[in-house]
Amino acid sequence: MIQIAVLGFGTVGSGVVELIDKNQDVIRSRFPEGIHVKYILDIREFPDSPYADRIVHDMKVILEDPEIAIVCETMGGKEPAYSFSRAALEKGKSVCTSNKELVAAYGPALIQTAADHNCSYMFEASVGGGIPVIRPLLSALTQEKITSILGILNGTTNYIMTRMENEGMSFEDVLKIAQEKGYAERNPEADVEGHDACRKIAILSSLVTGKTVRYEDIPCEGISKITTEDMKYARAMHMAVRLLGMSRQTENGAVYVRTAPFLVPEEHPLHNVSGVFNAVFVHGNMVDNLMFYGRGAGKLPTASAVTADVLECARNIGRHVPVKWSDEVLQLSDPKSESRQFFVRVDAAEKDLALSLFKAAQEVRAEGLEGEFAFVTEEQTEAEFERKAASLSTLKNRIRLLDLEK
Ligand code: HSE
Repeated sequence: MIQIAVLGFGTVGSGVVELIDKNQDVIRSRFPEGIHVKYILDIREFPDSPYADRIVHDMKVILEDPEIAIVCETMGGKEPAYSFSRAALEKGKSVCTSNKELVAAYGPALIQTAADHNCSYMFEASVGGGIPVIRPLLSALTQEKITSILGILNGTTNYIMTRMENEGMSFEDVLKIAQEKGYAERNPEADVEGHDACRKIAILSSLVTGKTVRYEDIPCEGISKITTEDMKYARAMHMAVRLLGMSRQTENGAVYVRTAPFLVPEEHPLHNVSGVFNAVFVHGNMVDNLMFYGRGAGKLPTASAVTADVLECARNIGRHVPVKWSDEVLQLSDPKSESRQFFVRVDAAEKDLALSLFKAAQEVRAEGLEGEFAFVTEEQTEAEFERKAASLSTLKNRIRLLDLEK
C-alpha cells in the first residue's frame, strides 16, 4: 500500500481524500497495491469528518514518516505551500499539486529539487481543473511544434459570463454561486482580473517552449470591464465574449502571450464552451488542431487530476519523472506589435471622429442600445489601435476579436 499525505483539507484536498476512498476498487484494479491517505494536514479541526483521526497540524509528522511516499499539496498560495513542497521533495517524497500560483512562480526550481532527490513534482491539476492537458503536452505531443494555444482557463469567469449572457443574472449574484460551488479563488479578484488564467497560460507556454514564461511579463486583463451591453453586441455579431489565455509562436520565432477577454466567433469551437467548463485549443504543426475540454474547477474534477498524478508517482517510486522546463526566462515579443481587429463603443456624438480615425470601420447595431456608435475596426497593431483610440473621449469599451485564421 502506498501511503500519502494531503496538505490542506479544503475543496480540492477533501476531494482527493473522497475520491481515493470511493474509487479505491478502480485504483486497485489498475494499481493493485492501492493508495491510502495516512495524514491530512490542516490548521483546523474537523471533529465531524470521517477522516478526523487523520488530521495533523504539524508538517514534521509527515516529513519524518518514512512510509509517506507522496504528498498532495492542495493548500493554494505561495507560503507555506512552497516550503512544505520543497521540504517533502528534499526527503524524496513526490509532490502532486493543484496550486497554479506556486507552479507558475517556482515550477522549474521544484522540478529540479525533485530531480535531485529521485522523486517527482507533478501539477496536472494546476491548469484546466479536471482536464488532462499537461500530460498530453508532455508525452503525446513531444513530436510536435506547438505553434498556438488558446485556452478558456478560468472556470469562475466563464461561469459568470455565460450565466450573465444566457440568464441576464447580475455579476455579483453569479460570483456568489461560483464561490458556493467552490470554483472561485479565496480572493476572487484573482479570477475576475485574469491573474489565475494568466498563471495558467504562463505554465502552458513554459511547457511548450521548455523555458520560463514569467506571468508578470504577460499583458493581463480580466472581465471586470465587460458589461451586459457588450454581451448584447456580441450576440448581434454571432460572437461570445470569452476570457482567453493565448500563446502564439510565429514563423520568425516571435512569441506572443496574452490574457484578455476576446470576442469569439460562433465558428470557433471555444465559442460554445460555457459554464464552469474550460477548453484548451492547441495547434501542432503536424497534428493540426486539438481541443481538450472538461470541468475547469470544482472539487472532484480537480481532485481527479491530482489523483492521476498520485498514481503516476506511485508507479515511479524512487525515480524522477522528468519535465522539460528550464529556469531560463523566455523574452516575449512586444505585445504592442501584435495585430488584430477590435470592437469599439463610443457615444453617438463621436461617430464622425471614430470614422475618420478608423476608416474601414463596420458599424454594429444591437436592439435597445441607442445613443452610441459601435463598430469593428480593420486589422491593425495594438500600438496603432491605442494611438487612435486615445483620441476618443467617450470610449465605453473595446474588446479584441479572435482571428479564426491565426
Ligand atoms: N478559481 C479557479 C477557476 C479554480 O475558477 O478556474 C481552478 O483553477
